[in-house]
Amino acid sequence: MIRLISFEGGDGSGKTTQLQLLEKYLTSRGKLCLTTREPGGTALGEMIRQVLLEAGKVEISSPTELFLYLADRAQHVREVIRPALASGTPVLCDRFTDSTLAYQGYGRGVDLDMLRRLNRVASDGITPDLTFLLDCPVEVGLSRTRQRLQGSKPPGLLAGGPGSGQAGRLEGPDRFEREKSEFHQRVRMGFLELARAEPERILILDATCPVSEVHEKIRKIVDERLKDGQ
Ligand code: TMP
Repeated sequence: MIRLISFEGGDGSGKTTQLQLLEKYLTSRGKLCLTTREPGGTALGEMIRQVLLEAGKVEISSPTELFLYLADRAQHVREVIRPALASGTPVLCDRFTDSTLAYQGYGRGVDLDMLRRLNRVASDGITPDLTFLLDCPVEVGLSRTRQRLQGSKPPGLLAGGPGSGQAGRLEGPDRFEREKSEFHQRVRMGFLELARAEPERILILDATCPVSEVHEKIRKIVDERLKDGQ
């Protein structure tokens, strides 16, 4: 049974576009699902998101950053994700627990075992059944982000709607987009290592391929898993 599907990847990897395309596809087949995101899947989460991503206003220490992401997740799971799953509605989530391991763990250097324990508390033990990791070289992702900030969206990427990563975007690069390329390299390597450790759950997709090609692969995988009742 696929109940929770998460989309992960570095900044500018196109995961939000792919999530939206999968939602459209499932809806067109009469399969209602709920799409949501982290941070920001609840009203409180939107406030936390604003604090986390706004660059330059206040200093945020690494533990503070971590606890803000966990607070966002704790609220999100209890207010949105668990009730949806309980009513039998599949959930498509733009980022989830793996982002904390990749960004705060591999990116910032926070202990991974501790993060796993904290993730379990925040997510109330919920783990994704399937995760699509949109992988691309850091420079490709960052240049897409720069284009988006300049108002010219890269070819094929959907503009953001409500609940997408683009909704309520801040002006200018956010706190993470301002990070050095080495930080984003560590995040990318972290995601890839997580995928190698759990190849059944985390599927790596080449995000440099055309959007339609990536979508086609995602459709096939989801169709197969739905058919198998996995
Ligand atoms: P987004 O731009 O994909 O919506 O994500 C917002 C930023 O938050 C992105 O740079 C990744 C970061 N992030 C973390 O650092 N840790 C987390 O646990 C999550 C969910 C996101």
